[in-house]
Amino acid sequence: MKTYLIIPAMILALASCQKPAEMKTTDATNQEVFGKMPDGREVKIFTLTNKNGLTARVTEYGAILVSMETPDKAGKTADITHGYDTLEGWLTNTSYLGSTVGRFGNRIKDGKFALDGKVYTLATNNKPGGIPCHLHGGLKGFDKVLWSGKPFGDNGVEFTYVSKDGEEGYPGNLTVKTTYTLNDDNELKWETTATTDAPTIVNIVHHSYWNLSGDPTTSINDHELTLNAPHFLPTDTGLIPTGEIAPVAGTPMDFTNPMIIGERVDADFEALKFGGGYDHCWVLEKGEGVRLAARIKDPESGRVMEVSTDQPAIQFYGGNFLDGSFAGKGGVKYAKRSALCLETEGFPDAPNKPAFPSCVLRPGETYKHVMIHKFSAE
Ligand code: GLA
Repeated sequence: MKTYLIIPAMILALASCQKPAEMKTTDATNQEVFGKMPDGREVKIFTLTNKNGLTARVTEYGAILVSMETPDKAGKTADITHGYDTLEGWLTNTSYLGSTVGRFGNRIKDGKFALDGKVYTLATNNKPGGIPCHLHGGLKGFDKVLWSGKPFGDNGVEFTYVSKDGEEGYPGNLTVKTTYTLNDDNELKWETTATTDAPTIVNIVHHSYWNLSGDPTTSINDHELTLNAPHFLPTDTGLIPTGEIAPVAGTPMDFTNPMIIGERVDADFEALKFGGGYDHCWVLEKGEGVRLAARIKDPESGRVMEVSTDQPAIQFYGGNFLDGSFAGKGGVKYAKRSALCLETEGFPDAPNKPAFPSCVLRPGETYKHVMIHKFSAE
């Protein structure tokens, strides 16, 4: 009896001796060391898989979705997100690839807003049309900080970040929790909650870049998009909403029926000129709770992604600013319109537009944002 126990113990001991010192370890929750922050702090990456062969990888840096592998209609699996192979790559990311963006995703006019009679000034870190504005949380938003990750539920990860009062100019200590879960119905759920100890503004947004073909050298102009959105928000040349909520009917912004993106992207239409293509906020069909917002299909691979949310709006960004200037996964230089983002959200510049749904969060309230990506192939 004793001999039987000794032999496996010896094998285990031998195996651990042979393991190179720098080898990454995976424990039962599929977490590994992804790399180190410039200040030496360790950054973890977690792998979630399901019974249908889907794999999602998420990291503590920026609460980023690093990769999402799904099968096409022939069962061939590929990563359908833009990103980097290593943490070092992600540390240089200025395009919010896969990131959890905050405290306020999207744009705020002139980087200023008033709350309870006090004016707050934020960084103006973006300049579309030559007009400075605040974008995606500022110079060092939630996409560029180290969150703290741990396993969550049956097949998920929970990331926590505490954004200090005054960080990037925003008032109030904000405690943020973002979870990713992958289920056997092929749903990747991103959910964020936040609480504050002083009145503040919140609009936390998931910012993955998708190319459902699995080949990041191709254009998403071939993808077919449906948006459950009868209206969109026209902007000025600085991509700040004018305040108008315009019907999409009869315009190239109408995706209420499935449309190939490339068919109208270069149409002679003011909003498309200002955005350099599609880069706008659509107002979703009103409804209760989590509901279908968008459906995207790559006709060739047959991959389909459906996006559901509890938010009032969605930004469809067609990757117009990608310009091949940096190399991502596998050294691929991501070209213009080689990926698209579907960012469920509150309305851009809501803090300066009293008629828009409020993005103010007060002590005692909980901000909540659910975004479900459901993958299939047909
Ligand atoms: C958002 C904006 C775009 C662009 C990207 C990041 O989705 O709508 O204009 O700034 O982020 O490059």
